Amino acid sequence: MRDQPELDVLLKTEETFPPPPGFAASAELSDPEVYDRAAADPEAWWADWAARLDWMEPWDTVLDWSDPPHATWFAGGKLNVSANCLDRHVAAGNGDRVAYFWEAEDADAPGQEDRGRKAITYSWLLDQTQRFANVMKGLGVGKGDVVGIYMPMVPEAAVAMLACTRIGAIHNVVFGGFSAESLKERMEVSGAKLLVTADATLRRGSPMPMKASIDSIFDELEEMSSVVVVNRCDTDPPMAEGRDHFWAESVEAADPVCEPEPMDAEDPLYLLYTSGSTAKPKGIMHTTGGYLTQVAATHQMVFDLKDDDIFWCAADIGWVTGHSYIVYGPLANGATSIMYEGAPDYPQKDRWWQIAARYKASILYTAPTVIRSFMKWGEELPAKHDLSSLRLLGSVGEPINPRAWLWYHKYIGGGHCPIVDTWWQTETGAIMISPLPGITTTKPGSATVPIPGIEAAILDSEDNPVEEGGGTLVLTRPWPAMARTLFNEPERYVETYWKRYGPDTYLVGDAAHIDEDDYFWIVGRIDDVINVSGHRLSTMEVESALVSHPGVAEAAVIGVSDEATGQAIISFVTPQDASNRGDDFTTELRQHVAERIGKLARPRGIYYADDLPKTRSGKIMRRLLRDVADGKALGDVSTLKDPSVIDDLKAQISGG
Ligand code: PRX
Repeated sequence: MRDQPELDVLLKTEETFPPPPGFAASAELSDPEVYDRAAADPEAWWADWAARLDWMEPWDTVLDWSDPPHATWFAGGKLNVSANCLDRHVAAGNGDRVAYFWEAEDADAPGQEDRGRKAITYSWLLDQTQRFANVMKGLGVGKGDVVGIYMPMVPEAAVAMLACTRIGAIHNVVFGGFSAESLKERMEVSGAKLLVTADATLRRGSPMPMKASIDSIFDELEEMSSVVVVNRCDTDPPMAEGRDHFWAESVEAADPVCEPEPMDAEDPLYLLYTSGSTAKPKGIMHTTGGYLTQVAATHQMVFDLKDDDIFWCAADIGWVTGHSYIVYGPLANGATSIMYEGAPDYPQKDRWWQIAARYKASILYTAPTVIRSFMKWGEELPAKHDLSSLRLLGSVGEPINPRAWLWYHKYIGGGHCPIVDTWWQTETGAIMISPLPGITTTKPGSATVPIPGIEAAILDSEDNPVEEGGGTLVLTRPWPAMARTLFNEPERYVETYWKRYGPDTYLVGDAAHIDEDDYFWIVGRIDDVINVSGHRLSTMEVESALVSHPGVAEAAVIGVSDEATGQAIISFVTPQDASNRGDDFTTELRQHVAERIGKLARPRGIYYADDLPKTRSGKIMRRLLRDVADGKALGDVSTLKDPSVIDDLKAQISGG
């Protein structure tokens, strides 16, 4: 485990923010008594939330935790996720209700009048979901099969996910910014049979090929027999006869009725690969009943959802935030959301505020890295738009520094919107530590306290709970949306999360502080995971991408603090050919990492050394590299095999 990263999250402001009286008065949860009620009987608490869903068969047992860390929630119960997200709302007469106001990146470009903005209703989603479910069945996909989804932010991405849940197929969404190589790996290890993708995605107004850029991977994917392609940009992609099918034609020709498959509460719902401490991503597996219960419950209670809210989770569907708070939570609750396809600064840097004003967004949920970009661009931009519809703001993905929190509160929230700083992970599936906006007094930079029904603690180096101070964050009670295993790697699941403190204490992998009011302050990762703009990347993954370049003999990767992105990737490389250390080689290596993993993993800086600082036993001293990168005074370097390499690196860093 490495040192705790230093973030200005620790620079607390003394100011605190109680819920505005008007907000608390109309909030569904405004009495702190809910915390006691949930703590007294967490199973009854979660069962109450589960009962708000439609079950085809009732459960026998709420929680079985007799064999930790393997939890069973709602055993015996049967339900279908798409039926909960769609059919029941349509049956209740809400078919015309808008599920998504979809806004294309190029909505205002000439000729986009009919396709740049769409109001997607619950009826339309249900129709498309049933049809696409039948398309998949026709392609031989059934219950338990894995389906890859590699898509831009278009409504069809949500339809594809829902259609999987309708027939019990397990989706495996890969963020569209990952490279062909990363996609291939995630498809291969999950044995996906079908991939849903698009011809191209818009990047700042221009189509960037998707299908053509991944075409070469299919020959190597033995189990993948079909590809369905959404035509987003009219780019006429290569299509292989018999294997590749266009979405629109297939959906139009499909039978419009597909009955929802009754699924066991513990049947797998989806896989989502995420970075861990090794080079190999982990296939987080979520199941059906508990996951849907907690995402719906948290979407309702943390965002104090009202019937007329316009909810905007500005994440990408390719990450867990998109899964839980663009698709499953909001749809289970019958909410109306905004889904925006593109970049926050295209065509102008006030794009988001234009969208928020157009649709009268009432809740905005985004990441600190984006808020910091907006800060940089200036408060004049939001000020040009009417943001008075906003009543609640959310933050997720990384610690929010108090300065960004205060800016968000003042310039986006007009000083009157509570902010919910929500801590959770891909593994937890849903929000775990967060204010309840009608109850909790917030402190900028703190995710505050575990939501009702959740229990967390901070442990010190001797594994004792810390009453006030820093340590390692753990979760001490099972929760409905917890990951059940790592796909095909059950032992790694136990090893990674449940070994360090025993089988009923979940190791989060974050360092945190707890203060005198029992508020949690999350500091950052304690493992070799870097959080760049809220995206998780492992140092090992980037290292192995670098050493796969023939010109690289050895590489070490570290995360350093970065004002814009939270953390940034820095790498140290020993080239095969010592003269290879110029800008051209750096560009080539960054491009190589983009091809292996994706642009998001490109190192911010690459420094060269004839040898990396190592102990006499040959272990790379990453901690020393971090100190060098941060320009810190170095401690004792006498244990180094060759201390002179440090001077070389220092000179490069101070020079550039
Ligand atoms: O380090 C924590 C940080 O993001 C990690 C989880 O990343 P991921 O699985 O990609 O999920 C991100 C979206 C839920 C956590 O271990 N993190 C997430 N939310 C917060 C946070 N750190 C501080 N405050 C948060 N609100």
